[in-house]
Amino acid sequence: MNNRQILIVLLVALGLSGCDRSLQSFSLPVGDVARGEQVFMNMQCLSCHTMEGYERPAGEHELSINLGGKVKGLKTYGELVTSVINPSHRLAQGYDRSTIQVEGESVMPVYNDVMTVTELVDLVTFLESHYELEPYEPTPYGSYH
Ligand code: HEC
Repeated sequence: MNNRQILIVLLVALGLSGCDRSLQSFSLPVGDVARGEQVFMNMQCLSCHTMEGYERPAGEHELSINLGGKVKGLKTYGELVTSVINPSHRLAQGYDRSTIQVEGESVMPVYNDVMTVTELVDLVTFLESHYELEPYEPTPYGSYH
């Protein structure tokens, strides 16, 4: 390799590691659960969602997608942020696709033009606090007698 080629290799390597770092450093400020609950109520998320401990408003949507509760794999903060700002990116699991999407897009509205970043941060902090990891139950293999 001549000097020029070495320089290009170095620049590419630096560029790649730069990308890596920016992905890892995705972090939003600390949110507030109580304020997040206010956002959740104001934005009427309960018109399509259920959450333990919250009454659904009358005349709600026929959709009933549960949020929070016991889950096998905890939803990461990043996944929850994605679900809110980019609903069609990865659709919720375990629902009939025809009820949750229209022409490949999630039926969930995009709030990006109505929600401030602070509201988003608080909302996601609130959502996160409602998920609980289900205790691991080992499958009783080998228990034949
Ligand atoms: C018009 C109905 C509707 C409204 C209103 C709505 N959503 Fe949704 N939401 C959906 C549907 C349908 C899905 C499942 C498809 C998907 O994952 O986008 C969903 C999925 C989600 C998920 C992912 C759930 C999972 O198990 O992966 C989150 C989190 C969520 N919504 C949060 C919210 C929040 C917070 C609000 C209020 C700001 C809201 N939604 C308002 C319809 C709605």
